[in-house]
Amino acid sequence: MKPTASKEWQELINHFNEIQNFSLKDMFIENNMRANDFTFEQSGYYFDLSKNLITQNTIPLLIKLARELKLEHEIEDMFSGKKINQTENRSVLHTALRDVKSSEHIVDGQDILKNVNTEIQKMESFVQTVHKGDFKGYTGKNIKNVVNIGIGGSNLGPLMVYEALKHYSVENINVQFISNIDGTHFIETIKDLHPESTLFVICSKTFTTQETMVNAFTARKWVQDYFGSEQATKHHFVAVSTNIEKVMEFGIGRNNIFQFWDWVGGRYSLTSAIGLSLMIGLGIENFHLLRAGFHQMDQHFKSTDLEKNIPVLLGLLGVWYNNFFKVETHAIIPYDQYLKYLPGYLQQTDMESNGKSTDRNGEYVDYQTGPIVWGEPGTDGQHAFFQLIHQGTKKIPCDFIGFVNPLHELNHHHEILLANFFAQQEALAFGKSEAEVAKENIDSWLIPFRTFQGNNPSTCILGERLTPESLGVLIALYEHKVFVQGIIWNIFSFDQWGVELGKQLASRILAEIKNGVVNKAQHDNSTSNLLQYYLRKSKE
Ligand code: F6P
Repeated sequence: MKPTASKEWQELINHFNEIQNFSLKDMFIENNMRANDFTFEQSGYYFDLSKNLITQNTIPLLIKLARELKLEHEIEDMFSGKKINQTENRSVLHTALRDVKSSEHIVDGQDILKNVNTEIQKMESFVQTVHKGDFKGYTGKNIKNVVNIGIGGSNLGPLMVYEALKHYSVENINVQFISNIDGTHFIETIKDLHPESTLFVICSKTFTTQETMVNAFTARKWVQDYFGSEQATKHHFVAVSTNIEKVMEFGIGRNNIFQFWDWVGGRYSLTSAIGLSLMIGLGIENFHLLRAGFHQMDQHFKSTDLEKNIPVLLGLLGVWYNNFFKVETHAIIPYDQYLKYLPGYLQQTDMESNGKSTDRNGEYVDYQTGPIVWGEPGTDGQHAFFQLIHQGTKKIPCDFIGFVNPLHELNHHHEILLANFFAQQEALAFGKSEAEVAKENIDSWLIPFRTFQGNNPSTCILGERLTPESLGVLIALYEHKVFVQGIIWNIFSFDQWGVELGKQLASRILAEIKNGVVNKAQHDNSTSNLLQYYLRKSKE
């Protein structure tokens, strides 16, 4: 259903018109218990939504809209395995990958949990052989370096989680990631590695993605050239894919192929065998704790009333800003250096899922869908883009993510980090008025420059400690938030047709580059000129 055609949408427009000029400062003065009204504790996190531009009526109205758009029913459909990814005719069952409690889950007559658990056991056995030194390189050396080759969902999740949980990583194994087709990524990653102690994990759902395949072939050549034997491949390569045939063509034996299924979307795949490098790098137990964290949030999302359901609330708040305040972006600011790749990871989760302009009926939408997601860790961001959030002309809702307890002993650093974490949220919400600035005895002409309007919304997500489990909770929270928004916007969140055109054109252009001849009839004037310039200069 078109959301904007509902009476609930109209009610939200009316509500927006009433409150759009309210200030957070006034709302906190009017209700000095406001924080309590909008704070939730769930799965080891404290969620403070009170510094958002909402009144007591906003969330009930948004929930009314969600109910009208059958959100509860859609959640059930996803969990039960209905083919909600309609344009690819697939179920969306990443939640089954981390269903650590149920004994079976039948979809289309198949117990998919049995398949999941069989694959997990296969991963465990393999990881044990690597850890114990039983899996050896071609010349009998133990594996010390693992290189994950993949891109998009076959890279961003494992990369983000490995970096986030480095504190928990196993000793003597170092995991690296190669994703970009830019040869620099390959060269710079392998330059300190030795083929004898290196294992490549080729991750690709399709095993046809150009970047991954080219990197995989380059890695295979690097290994084979060093050993002077094709036989070395099976000692230094394993793969994770849904396309077993293609992997075998590459030269990896069936035993070294770890499988997942078409009902797992690439960007939702990190708890599948795509997490193999994680299981190697972080240990089996930590991989299970991560899955358990995801499952905890899955259960919360599936069975909690919308009014207290955190992914639902965060998703609806995003709709509120995106469609009523008409903001364009959403910032993710982790105050935790371990989470430095979280914003990038969430860009794919969110923007590849909800960056769509065709609704589920095939019609062009006349309202805004997914926001631009971006961010950097604090406090670095404070010295880069925070100026614009504080005093620029744009409203930018921010998620501030932090943890009470650090994973190191430099407590004085942590106190300063968290002081900044709290201070920025306070400053963004309440600003500093002209009158307050004037009291500071500064030249009057400087007052406008030193004034902060405030009223910039933020959500505080404060965890107890960054652990495999708490990270799982956090990632699943964002996955489900994105799902909620897709339902409200009436779009298909689980396909990604928007990545296809560029791939097609690149393959056409590559043929011209290889031939050294530009087919002008195929291109506009600008592209033709660029190609000609490139060909001319690259020959000089
Ligand atoms: O970017 C498009 C995409 O299809 C993503 O959805 C996916 O995560 C990525 O490419 C990699 O795909 P694959 O795992 O099949 O190599």
